[in-house]
Amino acid sequence: MKKCLVTGGAGFIGSHIAAELVSRDCEVTVLDNLSTGKLENMESFKDEVDFVQGSITDLDLLNECFQGIDTIFHQAALASVPRSVDDPVTSNDHNVNGTLNVLVAARDAGVGRVVYAASSSAYGDSDVLPKVETMPSKPMSPYAVNKYVGELYLKVFNDIYGLSAIGLRYFNVFGERQDPQSQYAAVLPLFITQLLAGHTPTINGDGRFSRDFTYVGNVVHANILAAQIDNPDGAIVNIACGDRISLSQLYESISSLLSVDKEPNYAETRIGDVPHSQADISMAKQLLGYEPVTSFQIGLEKTVNWYKADSNN
Ligand SMILES: NC(=O)c1ccc[n+]([C@@H]2O[C@H](COP(=O)([O-])OP(=O)(O)OC[C@H]3O[C@@H](n4cnc5c(N)ncnc54)[C@H](O)[C@@H]3O)[C@@H](O)[C@H]2O)c1
Repeated sequence: MKKCLVTGGAGFIGSHIAAELVSRDCEVTVLDNLSTGKLENMESFKDEVDFVQGSITDLDLLNECFQGIDTIFHQAALASVPRSVDDPVTSNDHNVNGTLNVLVAARDAGVGRVVYAASSSAYGDSDVLPKVETMPSKPMSPYAVNKYVGELYLKVFNDIYGLSAIGLRYFNVFGERQDPQSQYAAVLPLFITQLLAGHTPTINGDGRFSRDFTYVGNVVHANILAAQIDNPDGAIVNIACGDRISLSQLYESISSLLSVDKEPNYAETRIGDVPHSQADISMAKQLLGYEPVTSFQIGLEKTVNWYKADSNN
């Protein structure tokens, strides 16, 4: 893990991975088309990485950039369920064709390890909790199909071409730099920024839907471990806290941290949203030696503080 490349490194999760790699003295290249990512996400380390503005849909560019790279952290994607429902063709192009390009170029450049940002959305609509990696996949949205197809390609590339690869199924990641502005923003930054602005957030559904909200520091930790284990063999591994917080609980925790006393609005559930999600993280513990390093509550405090400071700038 000396010469690393982070696809999507100007995005929320990718920028945290890139920052960690820089702090470990790796030579880091960030490849991002800035479709949802921002240069300001790399502000604290921009002088210490090579930044390439380009798309993973451009195979020639990947062939060029991957030369001499030993580890790829593949984070680039159009990372949104509703966006994929609105425009499945574009989502497929970036998430499936883009991922296939990353694997082909990594194989051809002799890259030593690919760590893929997979998604808990692959589990889809199954009542069984917690989600274990051996459960069948039942995607409920084009995005979930995209991310799952990436897993299948990854395993095949591992098995038939000997490309050492591992997929990490992230569960509802949150933390500093998550974009609250996009029309497809995730619920946690939306609640925080709307409450900070004095607006009333809307909960889709009755508030009982629940998620295994995972602080981004835990995801970075898992990526570093996944890059270093001996032979991942194309494994797909849950990365989460192994706990479950309802949207109502989340809303209350954020309100309490911001000292706001305000009832939320309620609206219809969104197409493609699964009711509940919670990970079994036994495999991550066994295979990677992973433990969540930051609890939900501490992660939430850090995140709320960051948005508070950001809103004052
Ligand atoms: N945030 C979560 O809760 C979550 C959960 C599960 C999986 N994931 C996965 O984690 C990864 C990172 O997600 P995120 O939340 O940081 O999203 P993000 O939108 O902040 O980051 C994605 C980055 O990829 C870049 N990108 C998109 N298409 C690209 C392309 N064709 N070529 C190059 N760059 C491109 C974007 O500009 C952006 O910087 C994604 O693969 C996503 O599917 C995220």
